[in-house]
Amino acid sequence: MGMSGGMAGMHAVFAQRRAQELLAEGRPTWATVRRLGHLLAAHRRTLAAALAFTVLGVLLSLIPPLLMRAVIDQAILQHRLQLLFELALALMLVPAFGAVVSVAQSYLNTVVSQALIHDLRTALYDHGQRLGIRFFTQTPAGQIHSRLVNDLNAVQGVMNQTLTGLFVNLLTISLTLAIMFVLDWRLAILATLVLPGFVFPVMAFGRRSYDAMGRTQEALSAVTSHLEETLTLSGTIVVRSFGAQPREGERFRQLSTEVRQRQVRQSMVGQWLMMAVRTLSSVGPALLYGYGGYLIIQHQLQLGTVVAFATYLVQLYGPASGLAGANTTLMGGLALFDRVFRFLDLPVEVPAPEHPQPWPGGPNTPAAVRFQEVTFAYQPPHAVLQGVSFTAEAGQLTAIVGPSGAGKSTMLALGARFYDPDAGSVSVGGRQLRDLDDRDLRRIMGVVTQDLFLFHTTLAANVRYGRPDASEFDVRRAVAAAQLDELVARLPEGLDTLVGERGYRLSGGEKQRVAIARAIVQNPRILWLDEATSSLDSHAERLIQEALQHLFAGRTVVAIAHRLSTVLAADQILVVSEGRIVERGRHYDLLAAGGLYARLYHEQFDPGLAAAAPAEEVVPAG
Ligand SMILES: Nc1ncnc2c1ncn2[C@@H]1O[C@H](COP(=O)(O)OP(=O)(O)OP(=O)(O)O)[C@@H](O)[C@H]1O
Ligand SMILES: [Mg+2]
Repeated sequence: MGMSGGMAGMHAVFAQRRAQELLAEGRPTWATVRRLGHLLAAHRRTLAAALAFTVLGVLLSLIPPLLMRAVIDQAILQHRLQLLFELALALMLVPAFGAVVSVAQSYLNTVVSQALIHDLRTALYDHGQRLGIRFFTQTPAGQIHSRLVNDLNAVQGVMNQTLTGLFVNLLTISLTLAIMFVLDWRLAILATLVLPGFVFPVMAFGRRSYDAMGRTQEALSAVTSHLEETLTLSGTIVVRSFGAQPREGERFRQLSTEVRQRQVRQSMVGQWLMMAVRTLSSVGPALLYGYGGYLIIQHQLQLGTVVAFATYLVQLYGPASGLAGANTTLMGGLALFDRVFRFLDLPVEVPAPEHPQPWPGGPNTPAAVRFQEVTFAYQPPHAVLQGVSFTAEAGQLTAIVGPSGAGKSTMLALGARFYDPDAGSVSVGGRQLRDLDDRDLRRIMGVVTQDLFLFHTTLAANVRYGRPDASEFDVRRAVAAAQLDELVARLPEGLDTLVGERGYRLSGGEKQRVAIARAIVQNPRILWLDEATSSLDSHAERLIQEALQHLFAGRTVVAIAHRLSTVLAADQILVVSEGRIVERGRHYDLLAAGGLYARLYHEQFDPGLAAAAPAEEVVPAG
C-alpha cells in the first residue's frame, strides 16, 4: 500500500515479473511457519483450550498401564481381592473419561482449523478484489479458483491431522519415555534404541511429500482452468461452433490423467513410510519380552512392570509412526500454505491511496475529466498510449474515434482507474484519480464497457447492481428510459426473469440496453462508455440511441463512439491513432479537414460511398 511515489517503477516491475512467476512454486520456509503462527495467534484462546484438553487426554492415556502394573504386582500376585476390583473399575473409568475428553478436543480442533481456513478464504477473496485488472488478464480464472477452493480444501485435510496431532504425539512420546525411565531404565534404553529408526525416514519423506503435494495441486489447477474455459457458456459455444469437442475432451482426459497419476504418487509417498515404520515397531516388543522375561527369571524385575512396558511401547510407537506420518502431511500442508501466502503476497498494482481524498463536491457536482500527457503500456516497453492529453468538460459529450487497436478502450481503462498510467496523470474534477477515495470514485463514475457482462440473476437485480438500494420506482424508470419496457412486458416473469449466464438469454441489443439501464440507476456524474461494435438493425439502433440520450443527459460523458448519432452529438471528437490523439474538434470541422477522421467517417458511417469505392480510393470530402 501507499506506493504513489514509486508507482511507475513498481508498475513496470510488476508487468515484467508476471503474476505467474510470483505464484510459481517455492519452498516453504520458517517464514511460512511463522506466518501460520501469526494466523493461529488470532485464535489463541480456542487453541489454548484445545491444547489443554489435549494435555489432559495424553495424561489420561498414561494411567492405564500403571493400573495394570498394580493389578498384576499388587492385586493378583498378592491375592488382594478388594484392591483388584477397585483397580479394575478404574481401568474401565479412566479410558471412558479419556474418550469424553477426546470428543471435546476434536471439537475444539475443528473449530480452530475451520476458523483459520475461513480467515484465509476471506483474505484470499479480499486480496483478489484488490489485485489489478492486469492480474486477471494474465491468470486463467481456474487458477484463481483453484487457490480458493482446491488449496483450501487440502489445507483443511492436513490441518485436522497435524494441528494438534503433532503436539499430541510429541507430548505422548516424551511423557511415556519419562515414565519408562522411572519404571526401569534398562528396559527404557532398549525401547529407545529403535526410536532413531523412526526419526530418520521422516526427514527424507517429508520433502518428497511436499513436492508431491505441490505437483498435485498444480495438476488440479490445470483441470479447473480447462473446465472453466471450455465447459462454461461462453467457452462451450466456441467449442461447439468449431466442433472442437473431441480435441477438448482429449485434452481434458490428459489433464485428468495427470491428476490421477500425481494423486496416486502422492498417497504412495506416505504408504512406504508407514510400512517401514510398522515393520520396525514389531522389533521393540520382541526385544522387550526377550530381555524383560530374562530379568524376571533372574528375579530382577516384576511381571507387572514388563506388562506395563509392553503397553507403553504400543503408546510410544503409535505416536512415533504418527509423528512420521504427520511430518509428511505437515510438509505437504506447509506447501499448501505457501501457495496461499504467495497469492496473498501478490503486489496490488493499483493501490488504494494512502491518504484518500474525498470527492470535493456533493454527488451532484459536475466534473471534468482530464488526461495530462498520459503514457501507458500493458507490457513495457510497448506503449499503447503516448502523451495523451485532453479535457472532457463537465456536462459535455466527448467522443473518441479511431481505428481498431488504436488504444480507445485503453483510454477508458485508465479513465476508470483499472490501471494507473506509467507517466502523466488522470484527474476528475481537479482531483487525481489515484488520490481519490475508491468508494467516492465508483459513486461518481460509471463505466459501460465494450464487452458487456450481466450476472446470472434477475433482470431487476442486474439493473440495480450499481445501487442496490435503488427503489422499485427508480428501476422501472431506468428500464423505461433504456427502452426496455417492451422487452419486460414480453418476458414471462417481467423484471424477475433470470437473464442466464452472462446475460445469454437476451439479444445483443437488449443486453446493451440493460447495461444502459444499469448505468442510469447508478446515476454517475461521469460516464465512460465503450459503445458495442455489433451493428444492429435500424429499429434496435433507434432504441439504443434513445436509451443513450437518457443516459447522457446532464453528465460528463466520454464515449468511445461506434455510431453516427454519438459523433454528431459530440461537443468534442478526439481522433486516436496508434496511441496518440491525432485530430480533435467537432464533426463538420474534422470532416472538412479531410484527415483521418474524414476517412474513418466515410468508411464507417457513409455506406453509400463505402459501397461505391474501396476505402483507399475515397477522395476526402471537401
Ligand atoms: N490487456 C491487454 N494486455 C496487453 N495488450 C493489450 C491489452 N488490451 C489491449 N491490448 C493492446 O493494446 C492495443 C490497444 O487496444 P484497445 O483495446 O485500447 O484498442 P481499441 O482502440 O479499443 O480497439 P477496438 O476499436 O477494436 O476496440 C491493442 O494493440 C491491443 O492488442
Ligand atoms: Mg475497444
